[in-house]
Amino acid sequence: MPVAHLSLDPAAVLAPVRRRLFGGFVEQMGRGVYGGIFDPGHPASDRYGNREDVIELVRELGVSTVRYPGGNYVSGYRWEDGVGPVEARPTRLDLSWHALDTNRFGLNEFVTWCRAAGVEPMMAVNLGTRGVQEAVDLLEYCNVESGTHLADLRRAHGSPAPHNIRIWCLGNEMDGDWQVGQKPAHDYGLLARATARAMRSVDPDLELVACGSSGADMPTFAEWERVVLHETYDEVDYISAHAYYFEQDGDLASFLASGVHLDRYIEDVIHTADHVRAVRKASKYIDISLDEWNVWYQTAPRETEPGWHAGGRRLEEHYTVADAVVVGSMLISMLRHSDRVRVGALAQLVNVIAPIMTEPGGGVWRQTTFHPFALTSQRASGVVLHGTLSSPLHETAKHGQVPTVDAVATWDEDASSLNVFATNRSVSDSMSLEVDLRGFGVTHVVDALVLGGNDPYLRASASRPVQPRAASDVTLDDGVLRVSLPRASWGTVRVAA
Ligand code: AHR
Repeated sequence: MPVAHLSLDPAAVLAPVRRRLFGGFVEQMGRGVYGGIFDPGHPASDRYGNREDVIELVRELGVSTVRYPGGNYVSGYRWEDGVGPVEARPTRLDLSWHALDTNRFGLNEFVTWCRAAGVEPMMAVNLGTRGVQEAVDLLEYCNVESGTHLADLRRAHGSPAPHNIRIWCLGNEMDGDWQVGQKPAHDYGLLARATARAMRSVDPDLELVACGSSGADMPTFAEWERVVLHETYDEVDYISAHAYYFEQDGDLASFLASGVHLDRYIEDVIHTADHVRAVRKASKYIDISLDEWNVWYQTAPRETEPGWHAGGRRLEEHYTVADAVVVGSMLISMLRHSDRVRVGALAQLVNVIAPIMTEPGGGVWRQTTFHPFALTSQRASGVVLHGTLSSPLHETAKHGQVPTVDAVATWDEDASSLNVFATNRSVSDSMSLEVDLRGFGVTHVVDALVLGGNDPYLRASASRPVQPRAASDVTLDDGVLRVSLPRASWGTVRVAA
């Protein structure tokens, strides 16, 4: 069996494992909210209408931060419509998804849900159809304690304590021609800068995310990043990046190597941000908020019936094992760049391109993609290590020659526990991974789990779960870990002292 080697040293630390890397995203669309996280009258819902069975899976998934309310939706967002007495809330047209927005679930409901789920809210402001004033008003409503009109309005709406939301996105995908209020880079940069300045004068320690372009393949990338960061450099902390992959024309080999594309994309954003840093002679670094990433085929219906209507099945992807392998490999890439990728948000969380699915009136179930995310989030702790990987290579149509095995490791010194996350991108061959752990004093394998190797197109359903299984072939001898990875698989091994 061909062998890949990963060599690790406890002193070669890349970055701490940051919990925010394992964020998620709930957009006001489809069954993400209504019939997803929120379903008044459902037997599993609490007194607020929040589904407790969904919350249980959100906790199991290990999601840290949840971005809200969009996505494209935020570019027409009127936050005031979703606060105050429910019966007085207006129904509006949501232009981004050609949907009706009843505003039954609004800002305070979202914060209540976050507290119940134990996640941190990450809020986005509308810089599509709105601007500085509305963003500052939203911030005042959320974060000012009392004594102003909007802070007191929040209190009157039943939230005496401020929501204290720390991280904010300044708009969404503003270079996309699908975006309501799309803007040229310079215009967006000026608006984002003015908005950031005004928001910081209310709450100086906010963490702010400027919009990067909507993806690496946009014609605007990376000139957009350069122009936007030139205008906003002193005011923001992060530039956003969005990455969606899918298998095209039956080319599984290229699809499984999507992490190679993500590596290059992240590195291009870093280089662009650092170029602006050099030009501006700035000392601080701008980090990346990878606040939308996933597998997304864009073939699942955007709406199920013509006309304007609320909720309904939109973008409900049904994921395969191969999709899960790609999700796992994207997390490997994110961890490997976690010195600069400090925030992540899997897009999305429930029903809409999601790891968690609900059945109308019924239960919840885990898509295949649930598992690599949950296992990585649950196990990655301590620090991410700089590893030296040498792997056999193979050719792909889309990404050229790629390493067949990819892997990353985290080391938790306090717990004397080391986790390796690995993927085998070969469509045909098993691969062996050898990891040199002689510097760590680890003595035994705690467990080893693998997903893949059989039918890459297998899907889970409400009645048929697909789970990772124990890896059969794993040893730790004289400080060298050996594990075999079946074709088209993702896996994780935990070793300890
Ligand atoms: O996540 C689905 C959509 O993808 C988001 O609304 C948008 O930001 C992106 O294009």
